[in-house]
Amino acid sequence: MSFRTSTQYVEDVSPGSGALPPRAWYASSDAKALCLGGSWRFRLSDTADAEDDSFAAPGYDAGGWAQVSVPGHWVLQGHGSPVYTNHLYPFPVDPPRVPTENPTGDHLRLFDLPGDWPEDGGTVLRFDGVESCARVWLNGTDLGEFKGSRLPHEFAVGHLLKPGGNVLAVRVHQWSAGSYLEDQDQWWLPGIFRDVTLLHRPAGGVLDFFVHASYDHTTGAGTLRVDSDVDGRVTVPDLGIDVAAGEPVTVPVEPWSAETPRLYDGVLATGGERVPLRIGFRTVALSDGLIRVNGRPVLFKGVNRHEWHPERGRALDLATMREDVLLMKRHNINAVRTSHYPPHPAFLGLCDELGLWVIDECDLETHGFTEQGWRDNPVDDDRWTPALLDRAARMVERDKNHPSVVIWSLGNEAGTGRGLTAMAEWIHGRDPSRLLHYEGDPGCRDTDVYSRMYADHAEVERIGRRLDGGTHKRRQLPFVLCEFGHAMGNGPGGLADYQQLFEAHERLQGGFVWEWIDHGIAHPELGYAYGGDFGEELHDGNFVCDGLLFPDRRPSPGLTEYKKVIEPVGISGDGTDGTVRVTNKYDFADLSALAFSWTYEVEGEVVDSGTLTVPALAPGASADLGLPEPPPGAPAGEALWTVRAVLAADTPWAPKDHVVAWGQIPAAQRRTPYVAAAARPVARDGVITLGPGVFDARTGALRAVGDVGVCGLRLDVWRATTDNDDGAAWQSGLRYGLLWRKLGLHRMRHRLDAVEVSEDALTVRTRVAPAARETALSAVYRWTSDGDRLRLAVATVPEGDWTVPLPRLGIRFGLPAADRVEWFGGGPGEAYPDTKAASAVGRWRSTVEDMQTPYVRPQENGARIEVRWAELGGLRVEGDPAFWLTARRWTTEQLDAATHRTDLLSGGTVWVNLDHGQHGIGSQSCGPAPLPRYHLKAEPAEFSFVFSVSATPTVSATPNAG
Ligand code: GAL
Repeated sequence: MSFRTSTQYVEDVSPGSGALPPRAWYASSDAKALCLGGSWRFRLSDTADAEDDSFAAPGYDAGGWAQVSVPGHWVLQGHGSPVYTNHLYPFPVDPPRVPTENPTGDHLRLFDLPGDWPEDGGTVLRFDGVESCARVWLNGTDLGEFKGSRLPHEFAVGHLLKPGGNVLAVRVHQWSAGSYLEDQDQWWLPGIFRDVTLLHRPAGGVLDFFVHASYDHTTGAGTLRVDSDVDGRVTVPDLGIDVAAGEPVTVPVEPWSAETPRLYDGVLATGGERVPLRIGFRTVALSDGLIRVNGRPVLFKGVNRHEWHPERGRALDLATMREDVLLMKRHNINAVRTSHYPPHPAFLGLCDELGLWVIDECDLETHGFTEQGWRDNPVDDDRWTPALLDRAARMVERDKNHPSVVIWSLGNEAGTGRGLTAMAEWIHGRDPSRLLHYEGDPGCRDTDVYSRMYADHAEVERIGRRLDGGTHKRRQLPFVLCEFGHAMGNGPGGLADYQQLFEAHERLQGGFVWEWIDHGIAHPELGYAYGGDFGEELHDGNFVCDGLLFPDRRPSPGLTEYKKVIEPVGISGDGTDGTVRVTNKYDFADLSALAFSWTYEVEGEVVDSGTLTVPALAPGASADLGLPEPPPGAPAGEALWTVRAVLAADTPWAPKDHVVAWGQIPAAQRRTPYVAAAARPVARDGVITLGPGVFDARTGALRAVGDVGVCGLRLDVWRATTDNDDGAAWQSGLRYGLLWRKLGLHRMRHRLDAVEVSEDALTVRTRVAPAARETALSAVYRWTSDGDRLRLAVATVPEGDWTVPLPRLGIRFGLPAADRVEWFGGGPGEAYPDTKAASAVGRWRSTVEDMQTPYVRPQENGARIEVRWAELGGLRVEGDPAFWLTARRWTTEQLDAATHRTDLLSGGTVWVNLDHGQHGIGSQSCGPAPLPRYHLKAEPAEFSFVFSVSATPTVSATPNAG
């Protein structure tokens, strides 16, 4: 036996050698399968050539080697470290060469065949994903090598197997020529990260097959034809179908859609094997310039999903995949782009079953070539075309039988070139039943959809109105925003404004928020690690944490916001005519799966409730429905109706009563607090008392309200800048986070100009300004009291030349203690001017702890909007007008300085911000800044608060989860 010691294949542009041609992937059949996951022997070398191949030979003693779990990434199992770069190649760009320092993991697995493993037929060994390049030996025989990390590769191995003591050896290289094609914005994580399976192939067993299941919406009939490389029969009992493979049959069916994912169970039986089929009848077409499924245009309410788990990286188990799909469905998401590679195949099965439109994207990105003006881009170099075609074929052949896949995507950020065109031509030829997507070609030469990322609202509107020009071909195409709403840190802002555009212009067929989940890596000291935390010499910091889910899959406020913005039922009313307007925003379903109810709430407390009868309403239809009379004897106070649409029965993705959509309709207006200036300020012993207020007579600083100590109350304009405030380095527009710091808004000084005591008021005059600047804000605090309550009126006027909006405008102060918080206003979660769709007016209870939003990189968070009154730390505050409430156990300065949540330590004091205004959030960490209407302009402002000692104690020893 001889081994090739050369590792030349690593730097070879070819996709590999020895693997079988790609074919349809299926999870189960009646043929035997053996999963080879589990603990494998593992040895890491620094270079591809460091060790010889002798480990692959039977009898090799690997007893001294480490062990790793397969599927898994060795860098997440204590061997080497992960590296994060967005688009920069973490090695010199010299395609197809890779560095000598090329971490190489030798993997060994010994296995016996189960006793009942059949002796006839053949066996294939399937790898579902190995990053980035592998060479495989079985029982000492070299099977070949492959690249294409997130694509399956099979080898015929039947002739090599023994009943016992089989030795499977896999050498995996972190870097290979393939790495040039896999420059996606994510962690570089080498390893055998998806399943390894031995599949028995019975004589006469299924080879490749292609399920064609179309739906004719004009007749209600579905046509099924299953093409198979091996003669066989196709049966679908529920449809009475029993035909030969290859033979078409047309029968009445219920169509498949993401909203109504009707699957029919069938079987493809060949001489040697029975493969279960899950058939969804649907027809995808481009007609009249629109993407239509079953004749109807669809509106994608999508997300971009990378595979991610904070401990296991891209080695996802089925439960995690299911959790992703359930979370998407429960948040009204109807589409997923598998950015930027084909996912684990089981994920697509879940999309078929639970209902999601899928853009299946090929494992291709060459973004790093942008650094050299795309020179030498493999996508425009014929030598690489076989590798590109191999990737296209491995995706299409693997996934072609999933009804959920409606669009193929060539890849992401790979420039343009002949290779892409070759892929597109091949895919169009092989599967004319689906459309083709690629974002990076403004001319849309190879695509069926005009796609962009991060276009701002104004441009999206122009595109919607067909005023954007472009090539003749592009002008005929429908539009999708394949990435928008960059969900990095606090945000994204502006989703509702995009959704309004999508709903207003038929050419705009929706978008996909970037992205689904933060790729934070669980870390013993840092909580979650991001780029740079492993000492990488090149990295892109926390740009890898830009998802709607936190790394532990807890929904972020961004996901809650998105759920509300894309809800499939519109519920609205202005309270003037006693009606509520209900609109069905589904594309296919009527409203019969939903039940509607109302509550009548006064000051946030439910006074009465009932059900609302809503007609089934066809997609697009609306109805104005009468609300009942307000309940007799309801208490006085601000009142509103909350109308909810909930699931009428359990579904596979959420239980009965799950809230799908809601709306609030005003019923009675708020009365703003009035405090008569009846009490007189009394100065004695260096202290001024005014009603319950106690002040320092020299500085006018508030020291206490009743027995509640207060410190540091003053005007505040600073917030710990968000990722979206800071903006991405490449942004050409103004980046306010930087401008604010340049202006010095994070280091404002407060000059005391006067403390004035009059008959009925204490007035404190200040000027608030940073060193080195002439810009300032005057702030006048006027205190009055009726004896029980203390009113603060703040008047502020900008001085000098303010060219930037303010981050925030309000007051802040410290309380010695607070844990429980109760308020009447927006909630339950945080909200900012352009992220407030999901904020519902109500009576909310939480704790200071729970009011913090755990952004992986700490930043401004947790504001509750439109708060009428709040109680915390023994204090009650009422606002005129309503205010933004934030409370935390650290200062804004500490929050600003922290790089990880573990930096945030309680300093004892609870810092409270009561804001009159906040600047919008936007999406400038990759997309547009907040729209001008969400800017907090520096202009004269007046606002007031009424403080009193709260009637119910809000400080308790044990925090109340609320
Ligand atoms: C896009 C890219 C994504 C991601 C995103 C920013 O340009 O396609 O992969 O990098 O920007 O998070």
